[in-house]
Amino acid sequence: MLILSRRPRRNRISAGLRDMVAENTLSVNDFIFPMFVQEGSGAKVEIRSMPGIFRYSLDTLLTEIEDVVAHGIRSVCLFPNYPESKKDSVGSESIREGTLYLRALSEIKNKFPELVVMTDVALDPYSSDGHDGIVKDGKILNDESVEVLVKMAVAQAKAGADIIGPSDMMDGRVGAIRRALDEEGFINTSIMAYTAKYASAFYGPFRDALESAPKFGDKKTYQMNPANVKEALVEAELDYAEGADILMVKPAFSYLDVIKTLKDNFDLPVSAYNVSGEYAMIKAAAQNGWIDGDKAMMEMLISMKRAGADIILSYFAKEAAALLNQA
Ligand code: PBG
Repeated sequence: MLILSRRPRRNRISAGLRDMVAENTLSVNDFIFPMFVQEGSGAKVEIRSMPGIFRYSLDTLLTEIEDVVAHGIRSVCLFPNYPESKKDSVGSESIREGTLYLRALSEIKNKFPELVVMTDVALDPYSSDGHDGIVKDGKILNDESVEVLVKMAVAQAKAGADIIGPSDMMDGRVGAIRRALDEEGFINTSIMAYTAKYASAFYGPFRDALESAPKFGDKKTYQMNPANVKEALVEAELDYAEGADILMVKPAFSYLDVIKTLKDNFDLPVSAYNVSGEYAMIKAAAQNGWIDGDKAMMEMLISMKRAGADIILSYFAKEAAALLNQA
């Protein structure tokens, strides 16, 4: 027998011990469940590239949220799918009174006042160009876009949103939104800044869900280069200074180092967006029998906690909650 002063395996000897010494845990409190709303009634349309995830009309959405809440999930983030006919170059539909998205937000808050409802602020669901800002001569205009985004944020706050989520990556938008919210009296409406949002191929399935892919080019002049991490600190310093309440890293799984960097350098909560392509990869491999989907899902999610995420936006939220509730 070896005489060893340390046998790290002793702390792994039984399930009880392993759980006792676990450094990180997942809880339903960590999750925000992203959901998709579309026009019509009685609709529940599965996203081709996201098995198990659906677009709902407002009536079926409210029924589904009952089930989400029954799973113990306390927050959702809503994204709209609009038909091409409602899109234009300045995203007018985004701030039209009575538009589907704003109606959905207020109905959700009416029916589920305790639910923390997060929004999306960006032009892409409403833009005939499929970009997050206003396009002119093939360029995405920053300051002109921020003007619209600010109006969108205020409209969403009026509709009852708890957390405003600017996902557009225009410069200066967090400060401009904060100022406008305060001026309108929404001092308690929170901002979760998409601080380090990368120009990622992992958003593909989401763009299927919204039918919002860019009509030309890509998003590299506003979303970050996957090669960079120091640049995430620059973005975080700005979002912090401009008044963000929570800093987000997106995508999550290929960017765990970025999550850790923000967590180590800032005293704000950090959220991780476990994006559509990350969900799709696990689903596809599991459907092929190549990996154990449940185990891979839980491992992916705990890796985000380990990296330092306090909050996880994930299409897995409901499935993961079901497993956590069983345990
Ligand atoms: C766009 C937006 C995107 C996502 C959320 N908001 C995609 C994009 O930037 O093109 C992606 C979410 C996901 O992939 O799950 N404002």
